[in-house]
Amino acid sequence: MKFKEINPSPRTLMTPGPVEADPRVLRAMGAHILGQFDPEFTALMNETMEMERYVFQTQNKMTYLVDTTSRGGLETVLTGAICPGDKVLIPAFGRFGYLLAEILERCGADITLLEREWGTVFEPEEIEEALKKDSYKAVAFIHGETSTSMMQPLKEIGEICEKYGALLIVDAVATLGGAEVHVDDWKLSACISGTQKCISAPSGSALITYNEQIEEIVKKRKKVEKGIRTADDVNGSLAGIPSNYLDLAQLEDYWSPRRLNHHTEATSMQYAVHEALRCIMDETLEARWARHSLNDKALCAGLNAMGLSIFGDIEHKMPVVTAINIPEGVDGKVIRGTLLNEFGIEIATSFGPLDGKILRIGNMGYSSQKRNILILLGALEAVMLQNHVKIATGEGVAAAMEVYKNAEK
Ligand SMILES: Cc1ncc(COP(=O)(O)O)c(C=O)c1O
Repeated sequence: MKFKEINPSPRTLMTPGPVEADPRVLRAMGAHILGQFDPEFTALMNETMEMERYVFQTQNKMTYLVDTTSRGGLETVLTGAICPGDKVLIPAFGRFGYLLAEILERCGADITLLEREWGTVFEPEEIEEALKKDSYKAVAFIHGETSTSMMQPLKEIGEICEKYGALLIVDAVATLGGAEVHVDDWKLSACISGTQKCISAPSGSALITYNEQIEEIVKKRKKVEKGIRTADDVNGSLAGIPSNYLDLAQLEDYWSPRRLNHHTEATSMQYAVHEALRCIMDETLEARWARHSLNDKALCAGLNAMGLSIFGDIEHKMPVVTAINIPEGVDGKVIRGTLLNEFGIEIATSFGPLDGKILRIGNMGYSSQKRNILILLGALEAVMLQNHVKIATGEGVAAAMEVYKNAEK
């Protein structure tokens, strides 16, 4: 039997992740492998930590990568920071809020869920009310809820959590690198992100950062595995972290000058993240946020002009994801399938209560380009017409172009 060489069809990835990797990132991944303790490689790790601090807008010493997808990054931080029996408040406004609950339940946390209709976000007063009623070790929140396209404002919530002595652990998987995230200014105790969205590398690494308060907890839970421990490695006083691979304590030692021989590094993935972060540094965060915001404005102007309706509380829509209500009598899967098969453009459907009701369009990282927005609007118009949806022909692309023209003035 013969197996063909991998030669994927060209695609325009306009899903809320994964998106197109920057070509610079793909080139970096082709570099030859270094040993993980080679000083050339450890120097690269230190640079990655430094660039990550810029992207997270933090001074946290503990800012590094975990070889896992974003959900593994969430699991690493939550499993390390939350001990069995700790009370954690989870305000959920979509699928990923429930993922936090799922992970925390498995950590043995005593969780309280606050739930909200999908397509809305929480008011800070609701969080304060809950923290007043009971005392919590932590609040775990999603910043950009990819399943609904909503973005939760966090600045006031950071202040409220500080006031009530609760850690604030935030999933910025979908927003970091595309929308504003200010870990220190917003008083986030920990923040987790992934690589396949606005960071624009392939999936496979998680970016994490956490403050000294969490560092202290981790220190008290530290237990170095027997085969590599030294006489100085005394077990901490709190319950150990119930994972070896996702063990914050040993990962800290791996990323520190000690270079604890914990796991074998995914070196090519580290090259990818290093280059993706360099791309962000070159562009600057401010310019990157502005690029995503302009492309979002053009996309929404185009969709509105076409006569399609945008889902959810528009004031809190993420600039990097837009959901449209699927018009009556149309099968969302057919729209998505035709865009992929006829135009090579991929967008996404949704889950849970929004399954079959909305289509989600990503505007993230390297995929967030004027060219992609215009091509998508043109293709969407053709596919909607083919499905007998009454839309204002020719208006979508024109409205988006007008946004770009005005931005140039
Ligand atoms: C907000 C959010 N959190 C977590 C995840 C899980 O990420 P991963 O699939 O990289 O594990 C996703 C993925 O889509 C996400 O959008």
